[in-house]
Amino acid sequence: MSVDPALVPKRKLYTGALMPAIGLGTFGSDRVPADKVAQAVSGALEVGYRHFDCAAVYDNEDRIGDVLQGFPREQLWITSKLWNDKHSRGDVIPACEKSLVDLRTDYLDTYLVHWPFPNFHAPGCDMSSRSPDARPYVHSEFMETWRQMERLVDMGLVRHIGTSNTTIPKLELLLRDARIPPAVNEMELHPHFQQPELFAYVRSQGIQPVGFCPIGSPTRPDRDRTPEDSVDIEDPVLVGIAQDHGVHPAVICVKWAVQRGQIPIPFSDRRNEYEANLEAVVSDPLTEEEMLVVTGIDRNSRLIKGHVFLWRPNQSWEDLWDMSGAIVDGGNA
Ligand SMILES: NC(=O)c1ccc[n+]([C@@H]2O[C@H](COP(=O)([O-])OP(=O)(O)OC[C@H]3O[C@@H](n4cnc5c(N)ncnc54)[C@H](OP(=O)(O)O)[C@@H]3O)[C@@H](O)[C@H]2O)c1
Repeated sequence: MSVDPALVPKRKLYTGALMPAIGLGTFGSDRVPADKVAQAVSGALEVGYRHFDCAAVYDNEDRIGDVLQGFPREQLWITSKLWNDKHSRGDVIPACEKSLVDLRTDYLDTYLVHWPFPNFHAPGCDMSSRSPDARPYVHSEFMETWRQMERLVDMGLVRHIGTSNTTIPKLELLLRDARIPPAVNEMELHPHFQQPELFAYVRSQGIQPVGFCPIGSPTRPDRDRTPEDSVDIEDPVLVGIAQDHGVHPAVICVKWAVQRGQIPIPFSDRRNEYEANLEAVVSDPLTEEEMLVVTGIDRNSRLIKGHVFLWRPNQSWEDLWDMSGAIVDGGNA
């Protein structure tokens, strides 16, 4: 084993539970088949990972379960996520139970609502695809889903519940109305998209930020690419710091993320890469000055824009992210 899991930093959640400060992503981006992702999970266990970011929609939980089966459960941190077509009251608990069966476990450490919209779209569909049933965020509907998430905690099937792809106005309503508040918020975070306001907000509320696409998702599906997107790992600042440390710029993204306080969940199916990402968090930290320099390269460049969730014709993806500070078209209904 290249990294002793005991040396990997942990983040304390409001329950007192300790969550490993880095996890392995498991979304194959429509290009890495389930078997190869499961192989990566197996290799990652060997090199010292203990935290895995899974989701029903990644369509590989059963293969990952084959790998995790038999490993001492208490040493693992397993996240899964509720997909958008399972928000209805009667669907949440069965959806979680399916993930539990697939992942061969009795409980999840974290279970997240993957998106705050119940809008179904077919897996792999392109950016222009729209659901005829799509609608804006309706808080009363989201709370019905959240009540079922809370029941999962009561039932002992889930230790922590959380949000993903949400915004401050939506979180404000959730924190007002939740019996069990979110313990984590999974959000896009990389040097070119640092979301300082949302990051500070969730931490101020005792919610642990988990950062997806921590390397700027250079291998994301074409349907998630637009011409204005920037490429973190080609940024001269990151390339320069990487040269100074003798590593790939991706490794600098991981170091920056962990030192800033979010939990990055980088994906790779290449052993040298996921091993380097884990080693990044236990060795050769960035200096304070390097941290500051990376803070300065934020470009507000969101990669996962969510076009397929839009509910009106000719709408901009910005409407999904409540950029004016209010929930667009929906809200406190
Ligand atoms: N909650 C959500 O809605 C949401 C959305 C998106 C993602 N996620 C989660 O976040 C995870 C990570 O996101 P992501 O896979 O899109 O993006 P990412 O982790 O930022 O980028 C992954 C890619 O970076 C490259 N890479 C990784 N480590 C490297 C290294 N040490 N050196 C060089 N290149 C390296 C690999 O490309 P090569 O193979 O070309 O080397 C890999 O495919 C997903 O797997 C998923 O679990 C969640």
